[in-house]
Amino acid sequence: MTKGSEWWRSAVIYQIYPRSFADGMGADGIGDLPGITERLPALVELGVDAVWLSPFFTSPQKDAGYDVANYCDVDPLFGTLDDFDRMQAKVHELGLRLIVDLVPNHTSDQHAWFQQALATPEGSPERDHYMFREGRGPGGTQPPNNWESVFGGPAWTRLVRSDGTPGQWYLHLFDSSQPDLNWQSEWVREQFRDILRFWLDRGVDGFRVDVAHGLMKAPGLPDYTPPADGGSMGGGVSYEPAIHDHAEDPTPPYWAQDTVHEIYRDWHRLLEQYPGERVLCAEAWVEPLTKLARWVRPDEMQQAFNFSYLETPWSGPTMRAIIDDSIAAFSGVGAPSTWVLSNHDVVRHASRLALTAANAQGAGIGPNSPGLPDRALGLKRARAATSLMLALPGSAYVYQGEELGLPEVIDLPDSARQDPTWFRTNHERYGRDGCRVPIPWEAKAPSYGFSSGSASWLPQPAYWAEYARDVQRGVPGSTLELYKLALALRQQHGLGVGELQWLDGYNDSVVAFENSGITVLANTGATEVPLPKGTILLASGAVETTLPGDTTVWLQR
Ligand code: GLC
Repeated sequence: MTKGSEWWRSAVIYQIYPRSFADGMGADGIGDLPGITERLPALVELGVDAVWLSPFFTSPQKDAGYDVANYCDVDPLFGTLDDFDRMQAKVHELGLRLIVDLVPNHTSDQHAWFQQALATPEGSPERDHYMFREGRGPGGTQPPNNWESVFGGPAWTRLVRSDGTPGQWYLHLFDSSQPDLNWQSEWVREQFRDILRFWLDRGVDGFRVDVAHGLMKAPGLPDYTPPADGGSMGGGVSYEPAIHDHAEDPTPPYWAQDTVHEIYRDWHRLLEQYPGERVLCAEAWVEPLTKLARWVRPDEMQQAFNFSYLETPWSGPTMRAIIDDSIAAFSGVGAPSTWVLSNHDVVRHASRLALTAANAQGAGIGPNSPGLPDRALGLKRARAATSLMLALPGSAYVYQGEELGLPEVIDLPDSARQDPTWFRTNHERYGRDGCRVPIPWEAKAPSYGFSSGSASWLPQPAYWAEYARDVQRGVPGSTLELYKLALALRQQHGLGVGELQWLDGYNDSVVAFENSGITVLANTGATEVPLPKGTILLASGAVETTLPGDTTVWLQR
């Protein structure tokens, strides 16, 4: 394999959110590894190249598994290490690659390292594995600084000593059950090298690295007040970047510190010792893209999620600008651009693209949110947006269920909600449960075929039947068939490894380009535009001689 043609440069990677994908074990209503193994052929049929699994490790599940209590074992909810091996073997047998999630910024408070830290006195080496500090003010009653948790509320929690007196505070950028590790500690670094080796030895093709911009904090942990709109890398309130406005913002002391890069250089060298092309993919909410590109310099990670693209409004000028900026920034360091529209932390794009009011990342939507989307318009735009995304050169991520056109579930009963955001903001922010509802496989089966019984850890809406895979399969024009066609054509014409050339002569609302001999036109506006001559290979909606609004076509001329 020559440098520059590695698989990850053009791969389409499918995100499995294990608890919501397929329940193959005990019908408890929680998806698991045996369930994934059983359903993998559907992903081959879809035409993706790799799967990324959100965490399935031992965890009290306070943040749906992003609170890890043992990095080298499978939580009984999801199966066993043997189940993992069987699933991985099947993934590989089917010609797919497997990426697992690594959560290095924090552990669960139930992790043995944190429990040991709690059991040892202040100032002990065990405490140095985390971010313990004395409080401020008389009696240390105030937190060590003013940082806020991404999930709402203070980013510090005070301990109570065994004799009942108040003790030190510990930092948690997320939930209080997710204490931040101290990445200044060489001991912590060594543990994670072992964790990487554990999964690499088992045969995984790479890691999606959770909160890859957060591991190092500014010396002295200074106070910081984020800009009112959240700032370029999020403040206490969310990660929320606002596109293009923040190039000059100061770097928050808890995100994107220069010192974090040494860690990824170290991991890069470790991965290089393994055969095959193993990858690290950064979940880093960093703006601008030129700064994010530092995560994918040749001696660091291979990929970084392009959240700036995900957050770009559905309009011609902004789409063109973000595509240009992405290709320039990533290719500037020799990395592929990546593209993504949905994941387990954001409002599904079949709803997001039709929201009529601002919605901060992580806030979610619920019955009382302003600007709730029209379902049909959202789906139309999502199909057009995906058809645009899958025609771009580089690597793309697809989040389970988007190939069915699933919308965000807005009307979850309050009593069903589980996202810590919901609790930490006193129900002010709905959080991310609406994009995590178990996906429908068969319209007529209990739990729509998600489980063998009717249980589902988040309730599935009655309209899930319309979106079930079996009612879309083989039906021309269904969202599932649109994804299959796009992925097949993308492969056949080498779009992932192609080059983009903008086409002139269209109005501002139309994103028009050529890639590998295919002409792509995405009309983000409401007015129909004439179609050039050519054979239509793919259309996201009904098209005759003109291209209607919110529709994308691929043509061969
Ligand atoms: C990442 C994950 C998110 C999780 C958070 C804390 O952003 O994608 O789901 O809550 O990290 O681990």
